[in-house]
Amino acid sequence: MQNNSNEKPRPRSFFLNEELFEYILEHTSMPDENQKSLISKTSKLGRVSAMQISQDQGMFLHMLVSVIRPKFAVEIGTFTGYSSLAIAKALPENGKLLCCDVSEEWTAIAREHWIKAGVEEKIDLVIAPASKTLADLPVDKKIDFAFIDADKSGYLEYYEAIVPRLSEHGLIAIDNVLWSGRVVHSEVSDSDTISIKKFNDHVSEDERVSSVMLSIGDGLTLVKRVS
Ligand SMILES: C[S@@+](CC[C@H](N)C(=O)[O-])C[C@H]1O[C@@H](n2cnc3c(N)ncnc32)[C@H](O)[C@@H]1O
Repeated sequence: MQNNSNEKPRPRSFFLNEELFEYILEHTSMPDENQKSLISKTSKLGRVSAMQISQDQGMFLHMLVSVIRPKFAVEIGTFTGYSSLAIAKALPENGKLLCCDVSEEWTAIAREHWIKAGVEEKIDLVIAPASKTLADLPVDKKIDFAFIDADKSGYLEYYEAIVPRLSEHGLIAIDNVLWSGRVVHSEVSDSDTISIKKFNDHVSEDERVSSVMLSIGDGLTLVKRVS
């Protein structure tokens, strides 16, 4: 879970203790007041707040987007908006972010914070299953950056919809690929773990792309097309 005024930020990485995570945050650029307010507001939602990416991941996405400078970025799974805010704040002047989610309630909080950050004009939010939103994109629409962080059973479908549209220097970032370490526990057989393992195997065997699995947060894979 993230921090609010009474609570210290808890690591998303299951292998980091709180002391090390605190050290990482102390040596990472701080969220601004709007981002802090979003963390605090999200924490009041209770257990679901754990879906929000961590501050270090937010800064990592922000850095990636700052250097890629995508004209068109896509986020699958917006929730209350922390990752979309990190992405949108780093977009170039002509950059756009398409946010896909199914929750009006959670994304209303996101919208509030996009407005406060002055990035709402850069963001198109579509409330519908992401598979439909992706299928509805114009055939020739190229994607320069994508962040996948929604229902785990949909990862493979989202990935397969995005890879053929990825621009030459485009990048996909996929969250929760370590799934709290359950990916290496053979006795764990719930459907989300099976989906993530199948997805990870699919990416590593995909000859169209090169990929790297990072241990930031709950595991983040970066994928680019091989040229
Ligand atoms: C892990 S949360 C996203 C967290 C967000 N990236 C952040 O940093 O705060 C997953 C989100 O995916 C959304 N979601 C679930 N199924 C979906 C689907 N089929 N299509 C689009 N969004 C979906 C949920 O409503 C939820 O907001």
